[in-house]
Amino acid sequence: MKTILLVGATGNTGQCTAKLLLQRTKDFKLIIGGRNPDKIRKMRNSLLDQYPDTSIEMMVIDLKDASTFKGELDNIDLLLNVSSAVGDVSELYVELLRSGTDYFDSNLSLPAKHEILRKQEQAIMADDLTFITDCGYHPGIPGAMVRWANENMKDLTEANCYAVMKIDWKSLKFAVETGLEMIEEFKHFQPLYFDETWKKWNYSKFLSFTFSPPFGKENVTPMFLEELGNLPKQIQNLTKTGFFIGGFNPVMDYFLMMVILLGIKVLPRSMYHHLARLFVWGAGLTRPPYGVQLVGVFKSSNETKKMTISHPDAYFMTAAPIVACVEQYLGGSLSKGLNLQALAVQPGPFFKAIEEMGVSLSVDKA
Ligand SMILES: NC(=O)c1ccc[n+]([C@@H]2O[C@H](COP(=O)([O-])OP(=O)(O)OC[C@H]3O[C@@H](n4cnc5c(N)ncnc54)[C@H](OP(=O)(O)O)[C@@H]3O)[C@@H](O)[C@H]2O)c1
Repeated sequence: MKTILLVGATGNTGQCTAKLLLQRTKDFKLIIGGRNPDKIRKMRNSLLDQYPDTSIEMMVIDLKDASTFKGELDNIDLLLNVSSAVGDVSELYVELLRSGTDYFDSNLSLPAKHEILRKQEQAIMADDLTFITDCGYHPGIPGAMVRWANENMKDLTEANCYAVMKIDWKSLKFAVETGLEMIEEFKHFQPLYFDETWKKWNYSKFLSFTFSPPFGKENVTPMFLEELGNLPKQIQNLTKTGFFIGGFNPVMDYFLMMVILLGIKVLPRSMYHHLARLFVWGAGLTRPPYGVQLVGVFKSSNETKKMTISHPDAYFMTAAPIVACVEQYLGGSLSKGLNLQALAVQPGPFFKAIEEMGVSLSVDKA
C-alpha cells in the first residue's frame, strides 16, 4: 500500500484534494503535512470526523526548511505538493532523490521551477522515480484536452482552449506566498499562441470567446502554457493551438493589470507583496456568476468538436485533475521520469475520472 504525504493540506487546493482522495481512493495511506501543527491537527480531526473509517497521520514540514524533512521521507512513496512553497526548493528535490520518493506539484508553471526540475531530470530517470509537475487545471488540463482530441479525431488541425475563471476572491484566504506566486506568474506571463509558429499577441487587439451559460461572452488573452509548447511538433497536422484565458472584471482588465505589470517592472521584489494585495483587492471586484469553464474547440478536415469542462468551485476544478493523476499513479499507468501532468496522463481515463468526481464535462459536435 502506497503512502502519500499531502503538503499544503490546509490550503484551498489541499483541503479539496484531501477530501477527494479519501472519498475515491481506498488503497493508500494518507499523511497530511504543513508548517503549522495546530492547523494540520485541526484539519486531521475534521477529516477523521468526515471519514471515520480512514487512518490519517500528520507531519509538520516546511518545504523551504530542509531540517524539517531531512531523513523524514524514507517511508513516503509520493510527496504531493499542493502548497504555495515556490522558489528554490532544490534541497527538497535532493532529499526526494535520496529517499526514493516520487513527487507531484501543483505550483504555478514558472520558468524557474522548470529549470530547477530539469537539472534533476537525469537523476529522476536513473533512480526510476516519477516526478509530475504543473498539476491542476491551468496548467494541467488544456494539454490533456488537445491530446484527447488527437486520440479521438483523425488529422487534428486546430485545437484552441479557452478558459473563464471567475472566483469570489473576497471569500478566500491565501498564504502570503500564494499572492506573491501570482505576481511572479504575471512577471513571466507570455501572451503566445500557435498559428503555424508561436506568435506574440498584439495587446491593441481584443479577442473574445462566447462561453456556455452562465458566463457568455468574455474578453480573453493568450497565455503560453509549457504543456502546449511541443504539441505542434508532435501532432503532425496541427496548425493552430493556444490557451486563451479571461474572467476578471473591467477595472482589473483595463486598469489594475497595467499598474501591476508596470509595478513588476519598476519595483524591487521586496515590494511585490503590495502588488499581491492590489491584485487580490482588484480581483475581489469580480462579480458572480462564479466558477470555472474550460472549452476546447477542435477541428479536423471533416469535423469540429467542442469539449466543455466546468465546475462552480475553482479549487474543486484544481483538485479533481490532481486526484485523477494520482489515481493513474496508484494504478501504475504513469511513466517514470519528469513530466507535466497534462502530458503524463492517459487522457480518456483522466477525463472520465474528473467527470465521476462531479466536474461537468460534455463533448458536442459543432
Ligand atoms: N494548476 C492549477 O490549476 C492551480 C490552481 C490553483 C492553485 N494552484 C497552485 O496550487 C498551490 C496552492 O494554491 P492554494 O490557492 O491552495 O494556496 P493557499 O490556499 O494559499 O494554501 C497554501 C498552502 O501552502 C502551505 N505552505 C506555504 N508555504 C509552505 C511551505 N514552505 N512549506 C509547507 N507548506 C507551505 C500553506 O500552509 P500554512 O498554513 O503554513 O501557511 C497552505 O496550506 C499554489 O502554488 C497555486 O499557485 C494551481
